[in-house]
Amino acid sequence: MAYILGIETSCDETAAAVYDTNTKRILSSQLHSQVELHEIYGGVVPEVASRSHIEKIHEIVTAALDEANLAIEDINAVAVTSTPGLAGSLLVGFSFAKALAYACKIPLIRVNHLQGHIFSAYLTADGYYEQVLPYPHVCLSASGGHTALYIVENAGIYHPLGNTLDDAVGEAFDKIAKLLELGYPGGPLIEKRAEKAGYKDYFSYSRTKKKKGCYDFSFSGLKTAIFYDMVRRGYAHPTTQALTSSCTDEVKDMIASSMLVCVGDILSRMLEQVLADIGSLKGFSFVGGVACNRYLRKRLQEVCDKRKIPFTISQQRFCTDNAAMIALVGAHKYLEKLFAPLDSDIFAD
Ligand code: KG4
Ligand code: ZN
Repeated sequence: MAYILGIETSCDETAAAVYDTNTKRILSSQLHSQVELHEIYGGVVPEVASRSHIEKIHEIVTAALDEANLAIEDINAVAVTSTPGLAGSLLVGFSFAKALAYACKIPLIRVNHLQGHIFSAYLTADGYYEQVLPYPHVCLSASGGHTALYIVENAGIYHPLGNTLDDAVGEAFDKIAKLLELGYPGGPLIEKRAEKAGYKDYFSYSRTKKKKGCYDFSFSGLKTAIFYDMVRRGYAHPTTQALTSSCTDEVKDMIASSMLVCVGDILSRMLEQVLADIGSLKGFSFVGGVACNRYLRKRLQEVCDKRKIPFTISQQRFCTDNAAMIALVGAHKYLEKLFAPLDSDIFAD
């Protein structure tokens, strides 16, 4: 039996959680979101993010221990996100975890943030680890930092099938929301407006053509296409990018809706293609911040229903960055004794 403390500070969330390998359950999950700090800039400012992590990390780790009803002496290992992420942000959690491991004489475990997202699909609403999908299955991990497809062979082995070549899908939502002066983060704001406009495709933005056998994504073209279409229709100024008076609230709803339908088409076509090309895949999971989107969930669910394969989405609270998924991967590595030396660094897993 072991209690694993998980720590996550790769971007703009300071998070800590405790996982119990005996009951296979997350005992606590605490999080401080920095959204308010970055909102005025329309995106994450790395220096602001790392300073905030320093201020919050001790409080959040203490809160996670309290919620789990444990003392630091009860913890058997500390698992921490080591890559990928913002260097200054990663360093805060990583240094904190190393100090804890050294002081408490417990193993340090490095966790890849993306593996964390893959594992987030296996946590139930009340935090139990349940392997709901048969292997091998395909996972779409979509957030502000990445859009990637993986074949998951088993709990420890996963292979990337495709990646984002430029902007991640969440980043595209954030950038278009910024252009439309909606706020940050863009995904939920675009979703709300798209719902108001009935999830219809008003402007038919061009879809990138997919090369056979290639599962990479590109979303920067969509962002440019939306901007030039707005300029052409007189909704945005070509050089300053400022919105014109004809870009009314209703027009913004229509742009948001057209964008979301376009992303829905891109993702569902990609999934259809992968499932057609690789017949051995027995299920699909959708994870990462963008998996909060109800319209996209529905579109991808439809693809799986057609193919009669099981479909799993991370629980809402485990979709966006959190430490529960880091503690869970940490527990798997703990059982395999995959420990990291105390002189190890970030950007390795
Ligand atoms: O996984 P996450 O918390 O952090 C990263 O690792 O990036 O994902 C954050 C991203 C942001 O880009 C945000 O706009 C997007 O997830 N997001 C959404 C929704 N909720 C969050 N995108 C689309 N629809 C949503 N409902
Ligand atoms: Zn993430």
